[in-house]
Amino acid sequence: MKKIPALLAFSVTFLMSGATPRLLPMTTFNSQIILKLDSAAAPSLLYFGPVVKGDLNQVLDAAPEGENTPAYPVYGNYPEGESALSVTMPDGNMTLDLIRAGEPESVVDNNGNTLTTIPLADRHYPVSVTLNYLAFPKEDVIETWVDITNNGKKPVILDRFESACLPFRSTDAWLTSLYGTWANEGRVNNEKLTPGMKVIQNKDGVRNSHTSHAEVMLSLDGKPSETSGRVIGAALLYGGNYRLRVVTDDHGRHQLFAGIHPDESSWKLMPGETFSTPAVALTYSNTGMGAVSRNFHRWGRQYHLAHGTEVNPILLNSWEGVYFNIDEPKMAAMMQDIADMGGELFVMDDGWFGQRDDDSSSLGDWEVDTRKLPHGIKGLTDEARKRGVKFGIWVEPEMTNSNARLYKEHPDWVIKAANRDIVEGRGGTQLVLDLANPKVQDFIVNMVDTLLTNNPEIAYVKWDANAPVMQHGSQYLSADRQSEMSIRYHRGLTSVMERIRAKHPDVAIQACASGGGRANYGILDNFDEFWVSDNTDAFQRLGAQWGLSYFFPAVAMGSHISAVPNHTTFRVVPLKFRCDVAMTGRLGMEIQPRDMTQQERDFCKGAIEAYKGFRDVVQLGDLYRLVSPFDNRGVVSLMYVSPAKDKSVFYWFRTNNDYSAPLVTRVPMEGLDPDASYKVTEINAIDLKPLPYEGKVFTGRFLIDNGLEMRPSHDLEWGEKVDYCSRILLLEKQ
Ligand code: GLA
Repeated sequence: MKKIPALLAFSVTFLMSGATPRLLPMTTFNSQIILKLDSAAAPSLLYFGPVVKGDLNQVLDAAPEGENTPAYPVYGNYPEGESALSVTMPDGNMTLDLIRAGEPESVVDNNGNTLTTIPLADRHYPVSVTLNYLAFPKEDVIETWVDITNNGKKPVILDRFESACLPFRSTDAWLTSLYGTWANEGRVNNEKLTPGMKVIQNKDGVRNSHTSHAEVMLSLDGKPSETSGRVIGAALLYGGNYRLRVVTDDHGRHQLFAGIHPDESSWKLMPGETFSTPAVALTYSNTGMGAVSRNFHRWGRQYHLAHGTEVNPILLNSWEGVYFNIDEPKMAAMMQDIADMGGELFVMDDGWFGQRDDDSSSLGDWEVDTRKLPHGIKGLTDEARKRGVKFGIWVEPEMTNSNARLYKEHPDWVIKAANRDIVEGRGGTQLVLDLANPKVQDFIVNMVDTLLTNNPEIAYVKWDANAPVMQHGSQYLSADRQSEMSIRYHRGLTSVMERIRAKHPDVAIQACASGGGRANYGILDNFDEFWVSDNTDAFQRLGAQWGLSYFFPAVAMGSHISAVPNHTTFRVVPLKFRCDVAMTGRLGMEIQPRDMTQQERDFCKGAIEAYKGFRDVVQLGDLYRLVSPFDNRGVVSLMYVSPAKDKSVFYWFRTNNDYSAPLVTRVPMEGLDPDASYKVTEINAIDLKPLPYEGKVFTGRFLIDNGLEMRPSHDLEWGEKVDYCSRILLLEKQ
């Protein structure tokens, strides 16, 4: 969802540099997009880079002669290239010929963000396109999207309607993208762009970030680096099916296209109707990928996460602790346990409604299962209040099961193709509701609203979605609108979330979708965070959270301490290491505390207390990635620094336990104030003797230049020794 400036401080016609062709800059504190506007022609994108000092015409004069890189290429004359927009006119004409239809305008909102619009129109047909650029100066991000309007009297078919095209040049450009699958989210892939087309896409229909991500980085100066080189970051803000394409020619010219996936998705644009594409957020740095991530994090927290500028609570989620096997005494005991360990919230996961003893039934039948919870949700919120913790609850509102009452009463509410049998998913019975249908939207809003209104102490909702669209077909949409199903599903979902948010603005909502299936800024506007992965193995989480940190801030990443052997990988990782990894994100627990020893609970209590002392730095601070898990150097290291640079948390994880491993035991730090002095305190310390620098003071300059030597294994009694080693150092400015 785009945040179009609501309060317009003033509206002006843009002042452009005088000469013809004219140049139109969109500017943030550190970056600039410059369009070239020739008298009547559609604009070309001339420049995306650091803010140009001095006369803008320098850019024009230095550009390759005769080069024309359309800001928004459409299918029309010279159709051999790739295009972002393709339409079929009522008379069958498949071409567009866009020219400028007026002067660009800009408006500035109360946050100082500037929306620039450039009106274009077809030379002959009544179709117009507005290019939008919304610049966030402080966050160094520019969002861009288009509005396509049918001003005629007959429908126009939109065959392809991508959000943006970004041309860039480099003979050694690299693409960084994320890939994965369920339980293996957030893997990082770096590849050199070679002539041809690279496509990144997702067509799950519901959960769009398991196998691929709609966010990429483009490094223009060779292999991606955290700290050097020109890097463009691009994120498509769309929770549904998407496609990103990078087209590369033999002369180092590239175009990045990003938008809604066009497959089976043509849209019938009615007379007077405007189709607005989702936005693409662009950011730029000439000091590597780290700065691009920090820009995305600042912008994401400020504009695309609910309550993104506030820290999130420390919670215990019941899933891996008891799975479906919930009941009142177990829930109350877990509340007591998380309260005793200093946590702030207990979340009851799946299994509380209908007759849901496994994953094969009851979705849609959202009445409390009184066999398990005789005193209902109220009984649980009472228990939580008594123990001084908040209460949260799991729901999966977009789904039903074929044996559920909801489906029996409303078989026409599920996604299903005409004259085909239903296709069932999880548990052999799961079906996806058709959110294109306003009745389904109302049902979901009403269900969630009733739950929250009747139980005003519910502070947190885990909103899950555990099935893909398994068949193409809306029983609600007319025959000529079937191709709009997926887009209308996601518009329906956005509307549902906005209606719920409007009534319950303070409730925290987690986006979960079979783990990390909904890590996307198109969906997060109405969510406080997302569940990174159903894989809670600390070792694997180092990779998943690292990958996702390219685009998403730690405040958004649910990161839980879980049991060993881990329920997905069966790896046994010491509790300290599990705690330390979980403390790199939004700390929580995903475990049955009753299965822990008192010593283990005490350790977690200490970790939670310590985390409270610096979570603002982790969740709201600046991230510096130091040693990547994907470089296989036997060590992973990262740090967060507060915006004021007065506090920092440094993490070091040993991931290779071979005795001979050449470890990176000395990691130069980043982001600190070189002129400040910082006192070092180890967090979650377990060694018999403290680190040599415990309590000592170092200058920021020294830490940046040299780092501190890590003791690579824990100094423990024989018999207590563990195979993994991890360190957290708190640095406090003196
Ligand atoms: C999904 C989620 C899990 C859990 C289960 C419940 O798999 O990712 O965290 O909530 O559903 O069925």
